[in-house]
Amino acid sequence: MKIPAFKLEEFWRKYEFTSPYLLCCSDAETWSLEELLSLADSDSLKLWKSLAFGYTEAPGHPLLRKEIANLYDSLNSEQIFTFAGAEEGIYCTMRVLVEPGDHVITIDPCYQSLTSLPEAFGATITKVQLKPENHWKLDLEEVRKAFRSNTKLLILNYPHNPTGTLLEKKVLEGLISLARKHGTYIFCDEVYRYLEIDETLRMPSIADAYEKGIALNVMTKSFGFAGLRIGWLATQDDAFLHEAGSYKLYTSICNSAPSEILAIMALRAKEKVLQRNRDILLKNLHILEAFIKRNQEYVSWIRPQSGTMAILKLLLPVSVEDFTQDLVRSEGVLIMPGSVFDLPGNFFRIGFGKKNMPEILQRFETYLQAQGHHYAASRKPSH
Ligand SMILES: Cc1ncc(COP(=O)(O)O)c(C=O)c1O
Repeated sequence: MKIPAFKLEEFWRKYEFTSPYLLCCSDAETWSLEELLSLADSDSLKLWKSLAFGYTEAPGHPLLRKEIANLYDSLNSEQIFTFAGAEEGIYCTMRVLVEPGDHVITIDPCYQSLTSLPEAFGATITKVQLKPENHWKLDLEEVRKAFRSNTKLLILNYPHNPTGTLLEKKVLEGLISLARKHGTYIFCDEVYRYLEIDETLRMPSIADAYEKGIALNVMTKSFGFAGLRIGWLATQDDAFLHEAGSYKLYTSICNSAPSEILAIMALRAKEKVLQRNRDILLKNLHILEAFIKRNQEYVSWIRPQSGTMAILKLLLPVSVEDFTQDLVRSEGVLIMPGSVFDLPGNFFRIGFGKKNMPEILQRFETYLQAQGHHYAASRKPSH
C-alpha cells in the first residue's frame, strides 16, 4: 500500500523551521511551560512534581479522560480514547472503519489525510466541493447526491481548514439524518472548535449529536499546545472506540507521561487558555480586515467564521506559487498556496492566531504593494 505524499505537512517540513515569518500557521499562540505552570491548580502541580516516566495507560490517564469528557455534553471518560496528536486519531479511525470497496464522502478542499488515507485503504471516494461562489459553504443537496447504499463514512472537518467556515445547524441536522438513513458513520475533525468568531454559532460536537458520530480533537490548535501531541477520539460508539484503541497498540501504544499531566493542567485552566487565544485572534482579525480593505486591488477574501485561518485570493497577474516562492525567498514571509490543498485558482491560506501576526502582516503588505506597483507600472503603455 502506497500513501501519497502529504503535501501540507511536506510544505511545513520544508519551511517551518527555516522561514522566520510564518503567516499561515493554523494553531493558536503556543504556550510556554512557565505560562502553563502559572495557571496550574495545586492538584495538577502535585501530579507534575510526582511524575514518573513509565508507560501510561493506553486510553490515556484517567484524569485526562475525565477532563476531556467534560468538554462534551453527554459523554463520560470511557467514551474518550487519547492518541498522539490528532493525526494518529485520524490514522487509527481510517484503519478501523475503511475497508476496500467501501464508499466514503469527503469534502474538498480538506486537510489531506482526511481523504488520502481512506483512499489509500481502498475506499471509493466522492469529494463534495466547497466553492468560493458559494462562500465555501457545504451544500447539503450535493452531499445528498453523493450518498450511496454502501456509504460507510462521511468525513467532515468543522470549523474548516482552510476556509474557516462553520456548518449551520440545519445543515448538520440534515447530514445526520442522511447518515442515519444509510447507517453511515460521521467522522468530524473538530480540532478548531472553541475558536468560532461568533461563539453563538458553535456547532454541537458530532459525538453528542449522533450515535454513530466520531469527534476528533486535540490540544494543538484551539488550545495552543501542539508539542504535547495529545489528541483524542470521542464517541458514543463503544465498539468502534475499542477497535481504534486496539489499533493504537500498533502505533504509539500510549501517550508521553509528561504530556498527559500538562494536558490535564491546561484543560483544568481551559477558560483562561481559550480566552487568551481568542483575544489574540479577534484582535488580529480586525487588523486583517483593515489590511484587506486597504489592499482591495491586490487581494480579496471571504471573511472566515472561525479562527485561526482564512483563504485569500491573490488578484495580481502572477501565479500564487511563484508569488509565494519569491515572498519567502526575499522577505522570509511564509504563506500557504492553495496547491497544498489541491485548490485551483490563485488562493492562499493565511493564519491569524499568533501574537506576531500584525508585524508579519506588515512585512507582507510592503511586499504585496511593491508587487502591485510593479505590475501596474508594467501595464502602463510606454511612450
Ligand atoms: C483539520 C486538521 N486535522 C488534524 C490536524 C493534525 O493535528 P495534529 O498536529 O495535532 O496531529 C491538522 C493540522 O494542521 C488539521 O488542520
